[in-house]
Amino acid sequence: MDSFSTLIRTASHEQHVEAETSTFMSDLLGGRLGVDAYARYTEQLWFVYEALESGAQELAPDPVAGPFVRPELFRLAPLERDLAHLRGPGWRSTLTALPATRAYAGRIAACARDWPSGYVAHHYTRYLGDLSGGQIIRDKAERTWGFARKGDGVRFYVFEEIPNPAAFKRGYRELLDAVPVDDLEKQRIVAECRRAFALNTDVFRALGEEFPLSA
Ligand code: HEM
Repeated sequence: MDSFSTLIRTASHEQHVEAETSTFMSDLLGGRLGVDAYARYTEQLWFVYEALESGAQELAPDPVAGPFVRPELFRLAPLERDLAHLRGPGWRSTLTALPATRAYAGRIAACARDWPSGYVAHHYTRYLGDLSGGQIIRDKAERTWGFARKGDGVRFYVFEEIPNPAAFKRGYRELLDAVPVDDLEKQRIVAECRRAFALNTDVFRALGEEFPLSA
């Protein structure tokens, strides 16, 4: 039987392609959108990581979610530096969540509160993606909008405390494979992962509507 890390990866593959090739992502990475769209997207990420990380400390002693709570992954501080760069020192006063983002962050917060295994699904969907495709997004953003390499504007994509992402991802998959739940609960985690991808796609759809390409 496949390992759980393989299962969750395979099960979300189709939706990964969908997220990756969404209109908004394609336009953003194709250099067809202005820095304002990138800033708006970064603002949405703030709400997502606020939900993932504000509940993290309470989950640290949890046998299922606890091993995943790793401060070297935390993204809120770099996101705030990026937003100060993108929007200026008053970034907080103009920060707003799209309805799709509110739904996504709300679902993460509910899992963090009531269902640690569900939290793991959201944790995997974001952080393993950031450590992987995030690096492609950083490179494009630096080239398209002229941010300093690994500097303000793209710090979200830079994991200062993870010098070897490939090794970290291997360790992460071992954590997934060792998650102490039964097969039924693993199926539920996979379903929540699919839901997490769908919630991301919803945010991309909303961003695509806010930033249509003028024909
Ligand atoms: C244009 C946007 C994206 C690109 C270019 C991209 C690209 C990639 C690449 C190259 C990998 C590495 C696969 C490997 O390790 O062999 C990856 C993995 C991953 N991505 Fe993305 N990705 C994008 C968007 C997303 C989004 C929106 C999510 C979800 C929020 C996501 C979640 C993941 C996850 C969870 C993995 C780890 C899969 C695993 O090894 O278990 N990605 N991505």
